[in-house]
Amino acid sequence: MTAPEFQRRLGVCYYPEHWPEEGWAEDARRMVELGLTWVRIGEFAWSRLEPAPGDYAFGWLDRAVAVLGEAGLKVVLGTPTATPPRWLLDRHPDMLAVGADGQPRGFGSRRHYCFSHEGYRDESARITAALAERCGENDAVAAWQTDNEYGCHDTVLSYSDAALAAFRLWLLRKYETIEALNAAWGNVFWSMEYTAFDQIGAPVGTVTEPNPAHVLDYARFSSDQVADFNRIQADIIRAASPGRTILHNYMGRVLDFDHFKTGADLDAASWDSYPLGFLEDRLEMAEARRLRLLRQGDPDFQAFHHDLYRAVGKGRSWVMEQQPGPVNWAGHNPAPLPGMVRLWTWEAFAHGAEVVSYFRWRQAPFAQEQMHTGLLRPDSVPAQGYAEARQVAEEVARLHNQGAGDVGLRRNPVALIFDYESAWAWGAQPQGAGFDYFDLVFAFYRALRRLGVGVDFIPPTVADLSTYKVAFAPGLFAWTVSLRQVLADFKGVFFAGPRSGSKTKDFITPTAMPPDLPDRFPGLVVSRVESIRPGAEIALEDGGVLQLWCELLDVPEEFSVDEATAEGDPVLVRRGQSYYLAGWPEQDALARMVSATLTRAAVKTEPVTGDLRLTEDVTYRYIFNYGPEPADASPLIGAREIVLGTPNMQPADVVIARR
Ligand code: GAL
Repeated sequence: MTAPEFQRRLGVCYYPEHWPEEGWAEDARRMVELGLTWVRIGEFAWSRLEPAPGDYAFGWLDRAVAVLGEAGLKVVLGTPTATPPRWLLDRHPDMLAVGADGQPRGFGSRRHYCFSHEGYRDESARITAALAERCGENDAVAAWQTDNEYGCHDTVLSYSDAALAAFRLWLLRKYETIEALNAAWGNVFWSMEYTAFDQIGAPVGTVTEPNPAHVLDYARFSSDQVADFNRIQADIIRAASPGRTILHNYMGRVLDFDHFKTGADLDAASWDSYPLGFLEDRLEMAEARRLRLLRQGDPDFQAFHHDLYRAVGKGRSWVMEQQPGPVNWAGHNPAPLPGMVRLWTWEAFAHGAEVVSYFRWRQAPFAQEQMHTGLLRPDSVPAQGYAEARQVAEEVARLHNQGAGDVGLRRNPVALIFDYESAWAWGAQPQGAGFDYFDLVFAFYRALRRLGVGVDFIPPTVADLSTYKVAFAPGLFAWTVSLRQVLADFKGVFFAGPRSGSKTKDFITPTAMPPDLPDRFPGLVVSRVESIRPGAEIALEDGGVLQLWCELLDVPEEFSVDEATAEGDPVLVRRGQSYYLAGWPEQDALARMVSATLTRAAVKTEPVTGDLRLTEDVTYRYIFNYGPEPADASPLIGAREIVLGTPNMQPADVVIARR
């Protein structure tokens, strides 16, 4: 994956509608003085942009854009469709998304709309068009954000009447005949056969679990609705505002829609990075480890998403919202260790972010997020993140002037295939509590990052893997025809499992039995699977255990058994350049297997110690200390020329050296 060379920039999220107009110019002046280039506005402002149906009030927005633009800032304009105003509900009382409990989502926060509601789609197109016509050619408007965080607060799946009607149509288009649908889903089981598409409901409210094929199709349908909704806005903006970058801001660990599909209609991806909220709410780990990382966040979680969204953005990524201090929404909301706001920013840049934009300029004194910090306190006095943002701005400028020039992405040797459908498939049929696709892929990513190698995420629709030395496909539930071909042609080392290829796209066990990839694994058969509860882990011969998942393999003679259980059952088998893993090893054992794979692929590893992390781009090597104690980075620096920092790293320190 290659990206155009670019210059790194900082930005901030700003809500002019929250503050007296007399203060806008001073805010803009301070943003520029701080070293910011971008400012995102507008994404929740519908009630002020259109106070009553058709009664547009764009005057204040024009003035805000003018004030920001005159100060020298570039504006990212958000479409306000994540927050339909109250009057819209009177026009479309049935536009609300409906929960699995059958209850419509209430008004009074945000994201209450259903993606399938045609009336709401029209309203969303209308306000987008009005905004794009008004501001699209404005020189200060240099980028657009569609909506805000699709899927936030669990809003991809809706069970409204509009969704059900659209689902039936989606099924009709996909299967054409009801017989084909019955066959694909295996509806002969439990007499679930239908005779007409309009008999089909949403997969909720059944007595026991619904058919996983039904659940998977509902997830696919819902994902397509997000992509369709987004495309309507992207097309309107592209026509009315040529040359501007169109993005959406995705989230951490939200896999409810296929980001690759939505991203295909956009120019770049961005995401919202809240490392301390994620550590508290979105990751399982031992309590001692969580306490150790309390003020820094998980050392691999942000990097994972920078790399994933770089792929979603076809090589181009931003951080649209960067945590600047304590947030309001996690179970507990600690303050970052001094230096972490700077570290997170540099880490994003190191992984290819073009822009890092802080959320938000000034802490709001009112409503839901009044406990969420900004760069400024509510009284406009600088808060923790302010000085750190300034420091990064100065450092970026200094490095740029030192002749590094624009930065570019490095070509990474490792491909990690990432598939949203697999997350839905294993969600529909986990077979063991705790079997979670994100956790599985993240375990591989952690292992790779600790070995100091760079990773590119790859969608399962990839057309060619030939630039990679090794490709990993953990937990990929089904092979597509095209991926089979790509893998057959791939000359590098390939690593699959556990569970890879254990279903067809229709969620049926393949007749040939998993892993069902004869080009790579001829004759290899997964003959039985079991899931493992905590405390019942299975010991491995070379140390460590299998947790959560274990497969019994029939292994043809030409395969070698590279890892086995203490009882002698094959765990990691190999034929030539192809590995299959028959279980979920805990982290250290997985790292051992990943390391052996990289060695076979002739990928140079450079294991990091403790909570140091290493990233490279075309110009620099970056080292980050996520640990709460000093760490010696000299082994990772070697003879390289340091341009920022010192080898004896303090907590939250960053070192940048020439490669
Ligand atoms: C994001 C959202 C923002 C704000 C922020 C608070 O999820 O896009 O609007 O709510 O979280 O951390």
